[in-house]
Amino acid sequence: MDTLKGRDLLGLADLSGGEIQELLHLAAQLKAGRINLRCNKVLGLLFYKASTRTRVSFSVAMYQLGGQVIDLNPNVTQMGRGEPLVDTARVLDRYLDILAIRTFEQKELETFAEYARIPIINALTDLEHPCQVLADLLTIQECFGSLAGATVAYLGDGNNVAHSLMLGCALMGMHVRIATPAAYQPDSSIVEQAMQRAVNTEVMLTNDPIAAVKGANVLYTDVWASMGQEALADARIPIFQPYQLNKQLLSLADPQAIVLHCLPAHRGEEITDEVMEGSRSRIWDQAENRMHAQKALLASILGAD
Ligand code: CP
Ligand code: NVA
Repeated sequence: MDTLKGRDLLGLADLSGGEIQELLHLAAQLKAGRINLRCNKVLGLLFYKASTRTRVSFSVAMYQLGGQVIDLNPNVTQMGRGEPLVDTARVLDRYLDILAIRTFEQKELETFAEYARIPIINALTDLEHPCQVLADLLTIQECFGSLAGATVAYLGDGNNVAHSLMLGCALMGMHVRIATPAAYQPDSSIVEQAMQRAVNTEVMLTNDPIAAVKGANVLYTDVWASMGQEALADARIPIFQPYQLNKQLLSLADPQAIVLHCLPAHRGEEITDEVMEGSRSRIWDQAENRMHAQKALLASILGAD
């Protein structure tokens, strides 16, 4: 399995729609136990922000492939004492087979990729969260049998998750509606990339949550203040309140609509307890799918067989 052998994944649009479809097929096969892949390689995890799902799902995926993982907490490496990124990148390149990085600026990830020859994976930056969206697409495909033509409505902050979701929908022939307060719209460069890739599908940006959710097949939300923005969280609550994913908005979606959230959630803010625990929620399957999607990604980049 080596379709993506040696490749970086810095943003979701590094993949074509066909490559994503192949990854989702492989992930489904791995999840069902129909295929068993092995690779004796070492994955490094360099995370400058907290993580539960991404850290554990990458680690378990790598162990299940027969590989190993090194958790490179910046506080216990020389990076915490100021060793330059470009030096660290060239050294880690000599030891590891692949490196997943969670950081703030997309530029830092790109610099790592420039100086390290090994594949670099975006495990979340302020701009994108592509591994999350691979799992989201797998979940939507499991629920509806296919992706093309489905309508995804995202409510809340035009953040990293919204960005990768827009790109993922555009690449897979899905309609995507992003409803945010006016000052929190997605990054214009991502909107442009999504528009370029959306062939015969809708990419809608709106400030109206009702227009976004009407008849949609998937309702998706994320926190109103991302990691690094904690100081702004309280001031944002009244601005984002109309975008809360609650039963009133859910009642306007397609009756078979599913609810997704990348987690962690702030219950009572961007999503109600009732909707999170309700019959339309597929949030726990979505979290599980992080592991299956990333196992497929690792297997494909590392050439597992
Ligand atoms: N969804 C997600 O990336 O979760 P973690 O921050 O726990 O990794
Ligand atoms: N937008 C959130 C996603 C967490 C998985 C953040 O960046 O904190």
